[in-house]
Amino acid sequence: MNTSIEDIQAVIENAAQKARSETSTEPEPEFTSHVKWPINCTVGPGLEGAIACESKVGFVNGAKGWLIYSGYDIFDLCAYSTYEEVSYLLLHGHMPNAAELKDYNARLVSYRSVNKTLRRLMSLGIEEMNAMASLRMGSNLMRQDFTHLDEITGRARPDDAIGADEDSIPMETPPKGEAHAIYEFKKRKKRAERSDSAEGLEACYHLIAGVASITAAIARTFQGKMPVEPDPELGHAANFLYMLTGKRPTPIEERVMDIALILHADHGMNASTFAAMVTASTLSDIYLSIGSGIAALSGPLHGGANEAVMIQLQKIGAPENANQWVEKRLSRKKKISGFGHRVYKAYDPRARILGPMAEMLVKGDADAERIFATAREVERSAGARFGAEKKIFPNVDFYSGIVYQTLGIRPEMFTPIFAVSRVAGWVARVHEYLQNNRIYRPRAMYSGSFNLKYVPIDKR
Ligand code: SDX
Repeated sequence: MNTSIEDIQAVIENAAQKARSETSTEPEPEFTSHVKWPINCTVGPGLEGAIACESKVGFVNGAKGWLIYSGYDIFDLCAYSTYEEVSYLLLHGHMPNAAELKDYNARLVSYRSVNKTLRRLMSLGIEEMNAMASLRMGSNLMRQDFTHLDEITGRARPDDAIGADEDSIPMETPPKGEAHAIYEFKKRKKRAERSDSAEGLEACYHLIAGVASITAAIARTFQGKMPVEPDPELGHAANFLYMLTGKRPTPIEERVMDIALILHADHGMNASTFAAMVTASTLSDIYLSIGSGIAALSGPLHGGANEAVMIQLQKIGAPENANQWVEKRLSRKKKISGFGHRVYKAYDPRARILGPMAEMLVKGDADAERIFATAREVERSAGARFGAEKKIFPNVDFYSGIVYQTLGIRPEMFTPIFAVSRVAGWVARVHEYLQNNRIYRPRAMYSGSFNLKYVPIDKR
């Protein structure tokens, strides 16, 4: 990777300049004011246009193709910030000062080690499972240390009942020469500071740190390797790459991953964020709510698109095949993965950064250069067919996989990486909504029958 930090900075600054010049004349955004319930809104299928809450966490300006996190423009955050600062910003609503960031980092370091969760997860045969299904199980297993619900229901807590010794991975069959693995009854270890409720900030920090560690461990399992313990000296993005590859990343690799994590951290009321909020609004705990977010994100219409894009580009094979592929795809009314968006009717600002970054990172690798050239040709050809009026552009998923591949990450881990980042937006919006909670319960328009008489089965 013969790229410099300055090259990356230039990509971001050029993208920002291009976005602002191309969209400054677009109309000012709607959906930016306080809400006085009840509110009138025009709702389309899939709750398009529905107002689900008021929020200060972030805003997607669809007309201009701008993305804002708690008042900060995404281009500035990518140019100058880190995922640690951004995830703190989303959760707390302000940028941390030095003391706050130091304390937050210390919490992330302490929560990054999830050995007990990994031991439970590794005993479930996840090497044959879908990565997002494994990640969802992992996020549920994390809750053992934090949620108060089990105590309330009085169910025996696995930790208090029995626990294999701290470092062993439970054997599927008892070890030779010993009748049983060494089990012992354990006194529950009181965490220094338990959150008074699973919606507490500690659980949010725990999830922001732990989802990255679990994702890295799942990737290692797929490679047939053991999980790698986090290195307390490394930052979030660097640790994630280190736990995933077993190698400490170069400063460039760390910067690229950090930017990718910033870009995916929050995005308004997207399907997975809404799913997490709906679950949390019943006062289910935040771990199960994040599990709902992970489940929703895994679909190819949403976070699963980044993996689908890579499969699509590999199938097309070369730029010269792109035009015909697009023609055929659209004539059959099939979707092109990585294109289109419910809210953006301008170029996705995240793709404005990921595209040029991918172009820079593939240089010198013939296969990666071909994949990128194929993507660019799909973009040109699809853009020509959609035309300006359809307003269908590449979205965040179109180029992200090419960037991940230059970091040595395999396609089946692309969507889990999306979750590694988005968990910040999920917990931030869940935490915000719970401050003034009302259970989500929309209506359906009933178009079925009325007054039908019951007929016994022998008369039907
Ligand atoms: C993400 O919501 C978020 O913010 C999501 C996200 C986030 O950060 O959380 O931004 C991340 O999920 C990005 C989207 C990833 N998904 C894909 O790339 C899958 C392909 N995209 C489409 O399925 C679609 O564009 C969606 C799902 C993203 C949006 O769907 P909508 O708003 O319901 O749009 P639609 O399916 O109703 O399409 C409207 C029209 C249709 O044409 P007509 O029937 O009106 O003639 O646009 C066409 C569609 O056929 N269209 C596409 C297309 N996307 C829309 N045609 C071909 N290929 C596409 N990708």
